Amino acid sequence: MATIAIFGAGAIGCWVGGRLAAGGARVTLIGRSRVMDEVRGGLRVTQLDGPEADVAVAATTDAAAAAGAELVIVTVKSAQTAAAGAELAAVLGSGATVVSLQNGVRNADTLRGALPAQRVLAAMVPFNVVRRAPGAYHRASQGKLMIDDEPASAPLIEACRAARLAIEPRRDMPAVQWGKLVMNLNNAINALSGLPLAAELSQRAFRRCLAAAQREALGSLAAANLAIARLTAIPPRLMPRLLTLPDAIFSRLARRVVAIDPHARSSMWDDLEARRPTEIDYLQGEIVALADRVGRAAPVNRALVALVRAAEAGGKRDYTGGELAAALGFGAVT
Ligand SMILES: NC(=O)c1ccc[n+]([C@@H]2O[C@H](COP(=O)([O-])OP(=O)(O)OC[C@H]3O[C@@H](n4cnc5c(N)ncnc54)[C@H](OP(=O)(O)O)[C@@H]3O)[C@@H](O)[C@H]2O)c1
Repeated sequence: MATIAIFGAGAIGCWVGGRLAAGGARVTLIGRSRVMDEVRGGLRVTQLDGPEADVAVAATTDAAAAAGAELVIVTVKSAQTAAAGAELAAVLGSGATVVSLQNGVRNADTLRGALPAQRVLAAMVPFNVVRRAPGAYHRASQGKLMIDDEPASAPLIEACRAARLAIEPRRDMPAVQWGKLVMNLNNAINALSGLPLAAELSQRAFRRCLAAAQREALGSLAAANLAIARLTAIPPRLMPRLLTLPDAIFSRLARRVVAIDPHARSSMWDDLEARRPTEIDYLQGEIVALADRVGRAAPVNRALVALVRAAEAGGKRDYTGGELAAALGFGAVT
């Protein structure tokens, strides 16, 4: 079974690492002492729809622990990817495969720049993970991992299968990552609402904000001829229309598409709560940059970047749907 190091183990790294360890992989978590101290005594991974596992994993703050791993999975937030790549470059041999298990569309390339001697693969996590208690991580929604379809992905695919963790090799990872980014445009709206995801998405006013952000993104992606993969039962181009349906109809349809734990929130909310910088530049910021490149306007995503920046600086992050819609330039919901 594969020897796996998780670099930057937080919510995603601890949950995925715990599941892979439960499936028999030899897993070492590398992360901050505040997190590693909690998991050293035992890691509990739970999920919405299946069994839970208590596993023992090696946990350290020392990047050198990645040196002997066959597979290194990077799970830092996007702003820390370049620094993670530099730390790994100092310790990894040329035979290692590095997997970016992060949101956004540029992390794998950032790692490729820092790690020219290693094979770097892009992967995508569709589900949410929340830390429920010290050393306890919970998968709060569903979906299967996706990874570049290359021979180097075989050890991770095998480890996932042993852990009964669904993973799909894909030949169109850039389109998968753009598809995920369009869905992740809700992270900022969720963080600014201050509500759990299920409560936020149950309100049409918030969904109208998301639909407007998605419409802008889809327009710029089409203008740039960038493909976008369908990751849910609903094709991305129909999602804005679905989002703007009245609450009762939307919640009936949404229940069929995705199950969400009522307590789950976006990781951007976690970042604001912990007073850490968010990934806004790699989500809404990416759409603003793309719109600028193709000569289109992106006022809604631009405004969301500004509101999240203000929230990072201690500003408002308990918008009602109506307040957020007004801040983004919409009128009242009819
Ligand atoms: N959480 C989710 O539900 C979810 C779902 C899908 C995708 N994602 C994506 O997955 C990625 C990881 O998200 P996450 O929520 O797991 O983030 P997270 O909980 O913040 O975990 C990342 C951890 O890496 C640590 N770290 C950063 N640089 C490090 C370094 N050089 N050495 C050791 N540790 C380091 C961070 O510590 P500091 O905070 O001290 O820097 C943090 O504890 C992001 O791209 C996110 O968008 C998250």
